[in-house]
Amino acid sequence: MSAAKKLSIGWIGAGRMGYEMAARLARGGAEVLVWNRTKEKALPLTKYGAEVADEISELAARDIVFCMVSTWKDVKQVVTNLLKGKSKPKMVIECSSISLEGSAELRQILESRKIAYLAAPVSGNAKVIKAGKLTFVCSGPKKAFDLARPYLDLIAVNSSYVGEGELSRIVKICHNVFLGVVTQSLAEITVLAQKAGVPRHAFLAFINQSVMGSTFTRYKAPAFVNLDFKVTFTPQLLRKDMDLGLDAGRRFEVPMPLASATRDLIQSMIGQGWTEQDFATLLLQQAEMSGLKLKSENKEVSDGLS
Ligand SMILES: NC(=O)c1ccc[n+]([C@@H]2O[C@H](COP(=O)([O-])OP(=O)(O)OC[C@H]3O[C@@H](n4cnc5c(N)ncnc54)[C@H](OP(=O)(O)O)[C@@H]3O)[C@@H](O)[C@H]2O)c1
Repeated sequence: MSAAKKLSIGWIGAGRMGYEMAARLARGGAEVLVWNRTKEKALPLTKYGAEVADEISELAARDIVFCMVSTWKDVKQVVTNLLKGKSKPKMVIECSSISLEGSAELRQILESRKIAYLAAPVSGNAKVIKAGKLTFVCSGPKKAFDLARPYLDLIAVNSSYVGEGELSRIVKICHNVFLGVVTQSLAEITVLAQKAGVPRHAFLAFINQSVMGSTFTRYKAPAFVNLDFKVTFTPQLLRKDMDLGLDAGRRFEVPMPLASATRDLIQSMIGQGWTEQDFATLLLQQAEMSGLKLKSENKEVSDGLS
């Protein structure tokens, strides 16, 4: 906490993830100046003591600037705008899920301006952040990681340092390929069990207590049982990550048959126009492909987070 007061923080991006991450930093006592393309979304952060900037350039004089936007194209755009003036931060911590190549290009841009760069993607959704269970995977200079650690600790329960360069990017890409494949698999077996006569709440209660249950299967259970598909992560962002995984598979010559099939099932969902709800609508698509019409079971189901 006391260390957290020493450095000033700039925060780019107050979307689903960025908002909750910045909120934890501000509530933890850090001095945070937030910029979001749509300013109104960032304004409620003032209740935690954060300030909101009109222009992204106002963040350039901060010691550390975090970035949490969408794709590499968006990251490049905001960082270019951040560095247009004379001021520059000491460090940029980039948390969006982007490619190894994008991250390497960003490192070159920042290091040529003598700005330290930590690649720091995350595991967990907005609800996980609120529950204090987010995790970071970080790569870049160890010195930068050590300097950033008190701030990372205000946001997340754990931060793993995996080495130099862009190594954290491949870890995150692998993680999200697993997320896609596990979600599709969970959808298939849930529909199979239901079509054979087992209610979803009973099936998932067993799976979640079995050796195959996980933090993830537990926190997706309420959505699967009660068909609440309010967005935590969009199908489009998951498709981006599956594509990043398949690109990396091609680059490193690793066959990824499950990832490939899952990517196309996500594509099929998007192609049918299912883009405004959570990616867990993979369950609905699976049910449709199985001739099953799902209804909410209206059961109280724990998400395992609280
Ligand atoms: N949601 C999850 O569960 C989750 C988990 C782990 C990692 N991630 C990753 O975290 C990142 C953010 O995800 P999210 O779910 O928070 O997405 P989101 O809710 O769609 O938020 C995206 C944010 O990026 C901003 N943005 C996008 N393009 C921009 C541009 N060109 N210029 C300026 N700002 C731009 C948006 O600004 P506006 O508000 O103006 O649109 C918004 O603040 C993604 O890389 C995603 O893959 C997400």
